[in-house]
Amino acid sequence: MPLPIPSRTYLVTPALDPTRFDKAAAVGADVGLLDLEDGVPGALKAEARRLAVDHLCRTRPRGPMTVRINSLRTVDGLRDVLALLDADAQPDAILLPKVESPVELQQLDELLGERIPDAVLLAIIETPRGVSAVDAIAGATPRLRGLIFGAADLSSQLGVPMTWEPMLYARSRIAMAAGLAGLAAIDSPFFDLEDPEGLAEETRRARALGFTAKIVIHPDQVDLIHEALRPTARMVDHARRVLAQADDGKGGIHLVGGNMVGPPLVAAARRVLASVKLEEALEPVALRTSAGRGDT
Ligand code: GLV
Ligand code: MG
Repeated sequence: MPLPIPSRTYLVTPALDPTRFDKAAAVGADVGLLDLEDGVPGALKAEARRLAVDHLCRTRPRGPMTVRINSLRTVDGLRDVLALLDADAQPDAILLPKVESPVELQQLDELLGERIPDAVLLAIIETPRGVSAVDAIAGATPRLRGLIFGAADLSSQLGVPMTWEPMLYARSRIAMAAGLAGLAAIDSPFFDLEDPEGLAEETRRARALGFTAKIVIHPDQVDLIHEALRPTARMVDHARRVLAQADDGKGGIHLVGGNMVGPPLVAAARRVLASVKLEEALEPVALRTSAGRGDT
C-alpha cells in the first residue's frame, strides 16, 4: 500500500513492544512509525531491529507503516538497512535521521534499489549542518517525499531552548525547501504531554509556515493535531467567498469582504478548499487500510 502523502500524523512506537506496533491504526493516526533510533537504548538495538523486521514481514501491519532507522553514518544504521534488505521487509517509508547531505539519501536509495522498490524516503533535518544543506537534501532523489523537522536534536546541538522563536529559522527553512521541491513538510514532535494547548498552538503555527503533518509521540495527541492542522471555519468560509466572487477565469483584482483579491489569493483559496477535501479523503483511507491488512 503506498504511503498516503500528505499524511497528517505519524505515531512513533519504539520497536521494542510488538503489542503497541498497531497502535496508530487503532487510535486514528494516519501512519505508524517503528523507531529504531533514539527511542531504543544502544544495548537493545539488535532486539528492536529483529522485532521491527518481524512485524513488517510476518505479522503484517494493520495500516501504513514506516520505520526510522539509525543514521547511515553509524554502524547501527548500516545494520538496520542490511536487516531490512536481508528479510525483504517492505515498509511504506523509511525515515533517515540526522541527514546532513544529499549523498546519504542517494546511497540509501541505491541500497534499497529493486529489493525494496516501493518504500519512499523521509529525511529528518535536525542538525545545524542539515539545516544549512536543506535545499540540496530536498533535491537528493525522487524517492524522497518529505522533510521532517527534529526540534529536540537541533535545540540540543545548538544549546538553545526548544521553544518557538529559537526554532523558527530552521522550521521556516525546512518548510521553504519542502515547498520548493514539492515535498511534504512534517513538523517535529511536541514533547510536553501535559500541555495540550501548547501542542495545538505549535501545530497551528507550523501549519501557518507550510507544514501539513506532525510526528506524534502519544495517542492522545492525534485528534488535537488533526484538529489544529484543519483550516479554520473562517478560513474555509473566506476561501469559498473568494472563489465565488473572484474565480471567474478572467484574473485581475476583485473586492471580497473589503479585501483586494488577485490571482495569488484565488490560488491560495483553492488550496484551502483542496486541503479540506484531502482530509475528508484520508479518513476512509485509514479505515480501509486497517481492515485490509490485519485480517488477511
Ligand atoms: C526528533 O527526532 C527530534 O530530534 O526532535
Ligand atoms: Mg532526533
